[in-house]
Amino acid sequence: MTPSLILRNCILEDVRLDIAIEDGTITAIDPRLELTAPTEIDLAGKLVSPPFVESHIHLDSALTAGQPRHNASGTLFEGIEIWRDRKQTLTHDDVKHRAIAALKLMASHGTLFVRSHADVSETSLTALESLLEVRDIVQDWITLQIVAFPQDGIYGSPQNNELIEESIILGADAVGGIPHYELTREDGVQSIHRIFELAEKYNRLIDIHCDEIDDDQSRFLEVVSACALRTGLKEKVTASHTTAFGSYNDAYALKLMSFLKRSEINFIANPLINITLQGRTDTYPKRRGLTRVKELWQAGLNVSLGNDCIQDPWYGLGTGNMLDAVSMAVHVGQMTGLDEIDACYDMATAHGARTLNLQDAYGIDVGKPANLIVLDCPSKYEAVRCRPNVSHVISRGQLLVETTKPEVQWQQEVGAP
Ligand code: FE2
Repeated sequence: MTPSLILRNCILEDVRLDIAIEDGTITAIDPRLELTAPTEIDLAGKLVSPPFVESHIHLDSALTAGQPRHNASGTLFEGIEIWRDRKQTLTHDDVKHRAIAALKLMASHGTLFVRSHADVSETSLTALESLLEVRDIVQDWITLQIVAFPQDGIYGSPQNNELIEESIILGADAVGGIPHYELTREDGVQSIHRIFELAEKYNRLIDIHCDEIDDDQSRFLEVVSACALRTGLKEKVTASHTTAFGSYNDAYALKLMSFLKRSEINFIANPLINITLQGRTDTYPKRRGLTRVKELWQAGLNVSLGNDCIQDPWYGLGTGNMLDAVSMAVHVGQMTGLDEIDACYDMATAHGARTLNLQDAYGIDVGKPANLIVLDCPSKYEAVRCRPNVSHVISRGQLLVETTKPEVQWQQEVGAP
């Protein structure tokens, strides 16, 4: 077979290689391929990587910052109030167009696998139905998973309990929840049991917004962990945010960590948003608003990263670039050792793939789908340090995006003669 595309002189895991692609599949990887192809790209020592995985984003609210007003306090709860107003005007096309625009932005930065939450606490299920359509529209170039997310709580409104089940039946990939925002602690625990019941009934993944609060008494993570262990769902379960874990006392955190290792659940940290949302009620010292990323990673648990928001009621900034999230994780998590920097990069790639349960559909190897990106740098360390352009995005064996490096042109002679 003749490959349709050969990438030459790539750096993959610190080794210089050529990669051949045919019919959407990686067909050969070798230090020097003797094959030829109609299209060959000499990458001259650039880093080739599996695509970024956006483990946690809200596409239904993306690109709505300022509608109907900006979040003045910067808190999670004002964001929820603003979203409650904005979603009264939500339409199918409104969600669809913003979601596709956000996905194109993300793909241009090298993200080809995305898990998005869809707010299902509105009787019309506009966000969910629109994102399910978007999942089909974009499937030839980006893989999208949808989480049925009851933003106002499963028991926060009388109809929400039925709406989440209806959302699963309509085709959501995962069951979501927000136990720390339920009206009582008991409702929170009950909501987790309901989420596991639905996941088992309909064979779905689980991704719960869990303990996204500075309250050191918010302890739903232990409930999620216990349910994952008892049901055997384990790696199909993800706890997103878990920022309260950063506030737990060390005696409790140590005990919890041993339970978490047994439960084998996944974690998603969203450092860009949580460094700004959390700690708002602190004076000084001010907490960082991040779960124990380094300690979870050191314990061998799977941690991945998300942007969470792109210009929405919770976070008016955001570019959808996973390297922004990686850089913030390195800084806020104090993971500046070289192996720690590489680990944070992996949290946006291979670890994210594990969270999304992508299994064999992900990675650079012969026989795998040809999804890969090229970064304008030689190593993961340089990718995190410089946040370079993703020069090539190859999706399903086809070149999807090419970005040229900005050129700096000095207009005066400066420096030493
Ligand atoms: Fe979120």
